[in-house]
Amino acid sequence: MRADKYVSSQRTDLSRSDVKKLIRAGKITVNGKPVRSADENIPDEAEVCVDGVRIIYREHIYLMLNKPQGCVCSTREGASPTVLELVPPELRRKGLFPAGRLDKDTEGFVLITDDGALAHDMLSPVRHVPKTYFVRLEKPYEEKYAELFADGITIDGDEKCLPAECSPDPAEPLACTLILHEGKFHQVKRMFEAVGNKVIFLKRIRIGDLDLDPNLPLGGCLEIMHKDVEKLLYR
Ligand code: URA
Repeated sequence: MRADKYVSSQRTDLSRSDVKKLIRAGKITVNGKPVRSADENIPDEAEVCVDGVRIIYREHIYLMLNKPQGCVCSTREGASPTVLELVPPELRRKGLFPAGRLDKDTEGFVLITDDGALAHDMLSPVRHVPKTYFVRLEKPYEEKYAELFADGITIDGDEKCLPAECSPDPAEPLACTLILHEGKFHQVKRMFEAVGNKVIFLKRIRIGDLDLDPNLPLGGCLEIMHKDVEKLLYR
């Protein structure tokens, strides 16, 4: 494949003209040697680097982001920074989007991908892929929450939630873990409002069977590899 096509199509978010500029600057190498022209042929097994960072062809990419508070799960730029702005340049490519939303003041696991089919399956109301949240409350956790949520609580008068699992945090009397099998708007906050409490901190810590990496700092992003991608769907 031509060097400019190899580097721009699907592997990076660089346009062909960006790639040409990088080639002229000697910043694209194949097996350690700078590419001399945009039409140079790149063999399938070659090691191709942009600015010293190796690029690897994959049909799709799956990124685990530890979202900090203050940024929004949107692809469009507005007043607030978006989660996409936190993706490091070497992991960027065309078509990335956040699969599902967390509120601006919620932290934790957001999947960023360019795989529309997987995102659809992960978010589908039919599949009920569990999402696990760490919740800190204004008032102490009460035993009754577990039963009320397990029965499927009604929020805002007429919206019935699916059964959810809630358990107290072993270390913090004001905290608990909540597992949801659906994603209604502001659902965790509204569920605790319905039982007379208030969420003061919320973090998504697991999607399906995949935990947020405890070593990933807030704002950090890492690539999820094949066997872990399957865990997102909880098969
Ligand atoms: N429930 C909420 O209330 N907010 C979130 O961000 C996610 C789930």
